[in-house]
Amino acid sequence: MKIKNICCIGAGYVGGPTMAVISLMCPEINVTVVDLDKEKINAWNDPDTSNIPVKESGLTEIIEKVRNKNLFFSTDIDNAILESEMIFIAVNTPTKTTGEGKGMAADLKYVISSAINIARVAKTDKIVVEKSTLPVRTAEKLKEVLLENARGNIKFDIISNPEFLAEGTAINDLFKSDRVLIGGEDSIRGKNAVDALVKIYEKWIPKKKIITTNIWSSELSKLASNAMLAQRISSVNSLSALCEATGADIDEVSKVIGLDKRIGPSFLKASVGFGGSCFQKDILNLVYLCRKYKLNDVADYWEQVIKINDYQKSRFSQKLLELANDKNITILGWAFKKDTNDSRESAAIYVAEILINNNMNIHVYDPMVTDERILLDLKLLFQHKKFSDAEIQKKLSMLKIHKNHKDALLSSNLIGIVTEWDEFINYNWEEIAKKNVLTVIDGRNILSERLDQVKNIKYFKL
Ligand code: NAD
Ligand code: UGA
Repeated sequence: MKIKNICCIGAGYVGGPTMAVISLMCPEINVTVVDLDKEKINAWNDPDTSNIPVKESGLTEIIEKVRNKNLFFSTDIDNAILESEMIFIAVNTPTKTTGEGKGMAADLKYVISSAINIARVAKTDKIVVEKSTLPVRTAEKLKEVLLENARGNIKFDIISNPEFLAEGTAINDLFKSDRVLIGGEDSIRGKNAVDALVKIYEKWIPKKKIITTNIWSSELSKLASNAMLAQRISSVNSLSALCEATGADIDEVSKVIGLDKRIGPSFLKASVGFGGSCFQKDILNLVYLCRKYKLNDVADYWEQVIKINDYQKSRFSQKLLELANDKNITILGWAFKKDTNDSRESAAIYVAEILINNNMNIHVYDPMVTDERILLDLKLLFQHKKFSDAEIQKKLSMLKIHKNHKDALLSSNLIGIVTEWDEFINYNWEEIAKKNVLTVIDGRNILSERLDQVKNIKYFKL
């Protein structure tokens, strides 16, 4: 089947960049990205492309080239579904907060409502692509929902095409993917649907990197890949505690481990703990699935990855509390990693919570995350922990967000580095240390060489 029109439901961190790249590489295909969130769609359509809602290097340039040519952002979901032969579902799949599987399972309500929408509107056959990260065997459930809600004898072919991009490097990852994974049903229709998507990716991805599998392997490979990446970080973070106790240096140990070709150097950087919208939720989902299939030992194994991550955030916070000699602490960095404005599940939120709960005033500076977002992250966390409005107000009054790093660094003499922003390395620390004697605890181990010889700064690695 030749695809002329694509619809993508969900204009977020995945939907926006992936569709921008498809539009650029396939000028013959019209791509419409739709979302329920009007503000988000308005931001994607803002003539000033510096206001698009996802900040990724290279993205604005693509948007400027293809927007309103063959890439469109719209809230008219029904029309985009009607006109498209292929529909990507790229909506959020957060951890459930209520009902069965609360706190563990992926909440599929946005995926299911997207499927109901597709079925309700479609007048012709559709290829439905699972782009969101989903529990293994979701395609079965999706098929049921689509058939139950379809009008007439419409056929839906479901394929799985999980996304592997990382934030901060999304555009590069999309152009130079290690692999593109497409899972489909073992039938003629299933194979045709897979082929239709393979043809799109072939425009820029070498064929040998396009892996086709059965649909369950594809769904599970995505969860398993994230679990393996997160597991490496927790392994190194667990060793960082042993390094501290023994006088070994975690960066040296990581380097040695990573030089083994069988292991490789990536994802071995010790940190204050991994964050981001996906690692934790995907592992929790994996643990939930293992328990559902009565694989309790396997579930316990993966759960430990999360426990070590929590342990690391708490270890870092305790270190700050131990070294505090007054009531002020500065947190440098709020994003969950450098080069993104995303702070979902950032370690900074949990470090801030622990410090505030210990009656510390915290001073925060991040180059990209907005003040509103920082405030909201903490407010939502305290609401989730069931504090009263008055208590939340009191806690939030202990947070001061600074517009520039100098103010933040002069507001306390204890600094916790939480995000690995490059600019932190380039600050004029000598100048700052002349005005303020500092203790720096580096939750990313990025400043050891930079601060080694700076007078008036006491430096601690993880
Ligand atoms: P996001 O929250 O940034 O975007 C999801 C969008 O879907 C939101 O704008 C929301 O308004 C919209 N939406 C929800 N229900 C809708 C509906 N019924 N109709 C129309 N729009 C609807 O999420 P994201 O970070 O882009 O992640 C999407 C999925 O991709 C998740 O499953 C995630 O696990 C996976 N993923 C994310 C990343 C990443 O780096 N963020 C990478 C790989 C995979
Ligand atoms: C991760 C995966 O890398 C992507 O392949 C995947 O598509 C995505 O999740 C997803 O499914 O959402 P992302 O979370 O955007 O991407 O960013 P990562 O680079 O993986 O970083 C995740 C967290 O781990 C960050 O907090 C980062 O600082 C931390 N990290 C990473 C470490 O602490 N140490 C490392 O060595 C690497």
